[in-house]
Amino acid sequence: MELPFAEPWKMKVVEPLYRSSREQREQWMKDAGYNLFNLRSEQVFIDLLTDSGTGAMSQYQWSEIMLGDESYAGSSSFFKLENVIHDLFDMPYFLPTHQGRAAENVLFSALIKEGDVVPGNSHFDTTKGHIEYRRARAIDCTIDEACHTDEYHPFKGNIDLQKLEDVFKKYPKEKIPLCIITITCNTSGGQPVSMQNIGEVSSLCRKYGVLPIFDAARFAENAYFIKTREKEYTNKTIREIVKEMFSFVDGATMSSKKDAIVNIGGFIILRDKSVFQKASVFNIMYEGYLTYGGLAGRDLGALAQGLMEGTEFNYLEARIGQVAYLGKKLTEYNVPIQQPTGGHAVFVNAKEFLPNVTKEEYQAQTLAVELYLESGVRGVEIGTLMADRNPVTRENRYPTLELVRLAIPRRVYTNNHMDYVAAALANLWQRRNEIKKGFRIVSEAPILRHFTIKLERIG
Ligand code: F0G
Repeated sequence: MELPFAEPWKMKVVEPLYRSSREQREQWMKDAGYNLFNLRSEQVFIDLLTDSGTGAMSQYQWSEIMLGDESYAGSSSFFKLENVIHDLFDMPYFLPTHQGRAAENVLFSALIKEGDVVPGNSHFDTTKGHIEYRRARAIDCTIDEACHTDEYHPFKGNIDLQKLEDVFKKYPKEKIPLCIITITCNTSGGQPVSMQNIGEVSSLCRKYGVLPIFDAARFAENAYFIKTREKEYTNKTIREIVKEMFSFVDGATMSSKKDAIVNIGGFIILRDKSVFQKASVFNIMYEGYLTYGGLAGRDLGALAQGLMEGTEFNYLEARIGQVAYLGKKLTEYNVPIQQPTGGHAVFVNAKEFLPNVTKEEYQAQTLAVELYLESGVRGVEIGTLMADRNPVTRENRYPTLELVRLAIPRRVYTNNHMDYVAAALANLWQRRNEIKKGFRIVSEAPILRHFTIKLERIG
């Protein structure tokens, strides 16, 4: 018999989980203004809100915590991390930051000004937030296939070259400081970008004098998909693929809370000295001195180790395999999801799931709340609430897709947990026609509203 797959790790420390009753969850959800971000973690049984900062560190990462050098300047932990970053990405300049959005804040302070446009593939919400906060505009150039959830495409994160060139032709070069390639593309379903597309986008950027920059939060998962889906890369190692991916860009912002499997951390890498020098000034103002950037020395060490572990093929196979496992179960139950499943999450198509709820009543949010009430599983809305209002007209922006993301923390849950999640959604799917009413907004913040929004039930 062929031996089955098994994870290349075992558990040394465990955290208890608490199961609650539906009555308790009804009350907690009401008290939370029907916003899953407002729940306390003890009120959640399986937490798939995010894969960010929620991974389980290895014994080697925990030992780095003890080895951390807390010197304000010139810490040895910094140089340990710098060595790993140079080896992996082959980029000359590096700045640590406390997380991904901090890296965006620092780099965009150096590059983006009012009136600019920043094309890319479905910019993440904080990325878009940092662009719009500077009165610039993010333009989505993702391929249309990304919106057809039941059609298979191996690289639904790809950028449409025609859409990108249209942006390059429409606006003068001085108004396009950078193009952001998000790997993998979180908003469209954790979907990868092919090496071919990265190369073509990079050439187009060079032709028009625009900086190609990665939002690299899930770069290793993207490399895994290149290895397993793009023929020429089958025999290359993940690290060889990573190096080639980064050879096409001039820099990257990184949220280390994802593929570097740490609970906090981020960084910027750059090829150009003058951009690095400009960004360094903002880093010192917003984050901290150049050799710690808002992190403790111990965090830098754990991050260095996590980057090595996160780029191991065996680890990625188990991690992405678990996401695919949940996707397969849901597909067997006929639950409509973004196909194929992405690297870090399964995205449930809420428009198809709840046809009786209108988009004005927030379909994806309604489904996320129903899932929590049914099971204590917390997912997150990737729909109209997250898409926010148009900064000029203040009208709701209705995205093409209304999704509930089930993001899977790294090395944390077992496949029994995945079975539980799938069963909960299957139950909801069976009684989907009974769900007819959604929510209205009671109060919201002027930007990034989904984090703090308060809602009430309609009817
Ligand atoms: N870019 C991408 C693609 C992301 O997914 C995130 C965060 C960030 C940037 C910002 O990084 O959180 O370290 O400041 N995504 C998390 C998520 C929050 O749940 O997808 P951060």
